[in-house]
Amino acid sequence: MSQATIESILQEERLFQPPAEFSQTAHIKSLQEYQSLYDKAKSDPETFWAELAEKELHWFQKWDKVLDWQPPFAKWFVGGKLNISYNCLDRHLNSDRADKIALIWEGEPGDGLKITYRELHRLVCKMANSLKSMGVQKGDRVGIYMPMIPEVAIAMLACTRIGAPHTVVFGGFSAEALKDRLLDAEAKVIITADGGWRKDAVVHIKDQVDKALADDGVPSVEKVIVVRRTGHPINMQPDRDYWWHELRKAAADECPAEPMDSEDPLFILYTSGTTGKPKGVVHTTGGYNLYTHITTKWIFDLKDTDILWCTADVGWITGHSYLVYGPLSNGGTTVMYEGAPRDSNPGCMWDVIQKYGVTIFYTAPTAIRTFMKMGEALPLARDLSSLRLLGSVGEPINPAAWMWYYRVIGGERCPIVDTWWQTETGGIMLTPLPGATPMKPGATTLPFPGIEAEVVDLDGNPVGENQGGYLAIKNPWPSMIRTVYRNPNRYRTTYWEHIPPKNGQYLYFTGDGARKDKDGYFWVMGRVDDVINVAGHRLGTMEVESALVSHQAVAEAAVVGKPSDIKGEEIVGFVTLEEGYFPSDQLAKELKQHVANEIGALARPATIQFCEALPKTRSGKIMRRVLRNLASGQEVAGDTSTLEDRSVLDKLRGGA
Ligand code: PRX
Repeated sequence: MSQATIESILQEERLFQPPAEFSQTAHIKSLQEYQSLYDKAKSDPETFWAELAEKELHWFQKWDKVLDWQPPFAKWFVGGKLNISYNCLDRHLNSDRADKIALIWEGEPGDGLKITYRELHRLVCKMANSLKSMGVQKGDRVGIYMPMIPEVAIAMLACTRIGAPHTVVFGGFSAEALKDRLLDAEAKVIITADGGWRKDAVVHIKDQVDKALADDGVPSVEKVIVVRRTGHPINMQPDRDYWWHELRKAAADECPAEPMDSEDPLFILYTSGTTGKPKGVVHTTGGYNLYTHITTKWIFDLKDTDILWCTADVGWITGHSYLVYGPLSNGGTTVMYEGAPRDSNPGCMWDVIQKYGVTIFYTAPTAIRTFMKMGEALPLARDLSSLRLLGSVGEPINPAAWMWYYRVIGGERCPIVDTWWQTETGGIMLTPLPGATPMKPGATTLPFPGIEAEVVDLDGNPVGENQGGYLAIKNPWPSMIRTVYRNPNRYRTTYWEHIPPKNGQYLYFTGDGARKDKDGYFWVMGRVDDVINVAGHRLGTMEVESALVSHQAVAEAAVVGKPSDIKGEEIVGFVTLEEGYFPSDQLAKELKQHVANEIGALARPATIQFCEALPKTRSGKIMRRVLRNLASGQEVAGDTSTLEDRSVLDKLRGGA
């Protein structure tokens, strides 16, 4: 975040009460009610979660023990058996929700579909049976690499129905990034499409799958299911690639949901960290189902009449939890949109809200800032009166964007839930409850009941009021990350030993900096590690650096985030060149494209700065702090006495 944004957040004192009409009908109606839930969860978490699990979910078999906490490893609802696909589909069929719309899909260009619970159930069963016919068994991993089309949700629910953990890879990732993830997960089958629409153009994602699998690149992959979306010609490899529309014809309509152990892995989702390759965050069945269910219900105040639109791609955790599993577990209607604002249709988001009467809209600050820039005439020209609640996620929201969202999109009648959470947390952790919590623009306000959050120093001691520190979580919660796939040690050290445990008290390290104000409200300031948040997408500096140095011209690279008005942060890559290569605009362009090819367009650096040498300490560590200052045009702050060669700094300042 820019200094100006941080300062405006620090000075923000405005308080917005939940509208009375909203509170009256809300699931949680007052701050007192929130407080009593919070206190109850704090004093007896196991009873709190057990009562909710009993009331809100269907279990094939009840658990023997609510929580088994052997820090830092947690097991929730031990011995319980359930299936999230059953909870999202089958149980609604026996109610008057069977013919309710489960999924509204707005496709490009101009396609659309509404799918009832009954129909979704049928399609999911067919996909599950197709997977089974390909030899997929409980425990086998399935890769999903798809555009935003209904079949992506169908695929996820089909996998979890038969107990095959899915790993969804964002469709914007490159073949290389896809391959890394499929290799780590040892996926047996991939579900993909012949392409997708992105801003008036077709994205050829099947080509990326072919590239990833070329030369037996991912030996574990046996079969590929291809959904026909665009109809463009693609390569179909015999005995490996199968069309979904052909499989669907042959597959039976019924496939019983496999009773899963509460702690059976549900899915793996890869996310960036400080070091190494992206890590596979493992979530399990019971805790994730319960936590996403109850957070959807209370935070989005979901009712049977609501139409919830979460704009996140299903390739990210937000899409998993609040586009697919949370809304469907509650029997809600969820909206999926394949498009994005673009020159040819800048008002498309508002058209979708108007067309379907969306009542709950959940998006990222980057998107809000983009909408602001496009001007308020676009939303004001549409009827947005169906909206009753707004949400924000993925990055700190600056008060100016919050106010614009509140005034222009919400018509000053919709509460805003600024929700803080992470891939690892599975569900929302810090947030207002819209009928209960007074809002302050820029604050994620208070912890969800059952979550104990604190701002601490690196020894784990709470810092004082309004002091900056590290955001940490003090207790286990149902949807917490269980491990890093095939790397429990990385799980332990990254999250639970970064702040050394004391007297058996483990603190979950979030990687975010925050402060807590006099009302106990949390203000999240952004990452404190080498993770960059570009437009709400999380990227490790090391991943981008590895991509840069894999180019023949690059000797060394260091990547930092630079504040950006729209995207929050953008990537600046400092590079030194191998002998025989010289700085040029052409080479800078080539390097940016190289990173996009290696990782995906989301990782493309905004700037490449060539330099003769990188600033390093005497022990050889790159001083990123110095580069961050330089990238954002600030004076180099702090101690630079450990710099190995001070002339490097002068040369960099000179804009080498
Ligand atoms: O830095 C925080 C930021 O996004 C990070 C998590 O990224 P990811 O795992 O990709 O999940 C994103 C969506 C849940 C966090 O460590 N972040 C997320 N929500 C907020 C936020 N920062 C400030 N305010 C938020 N509401």
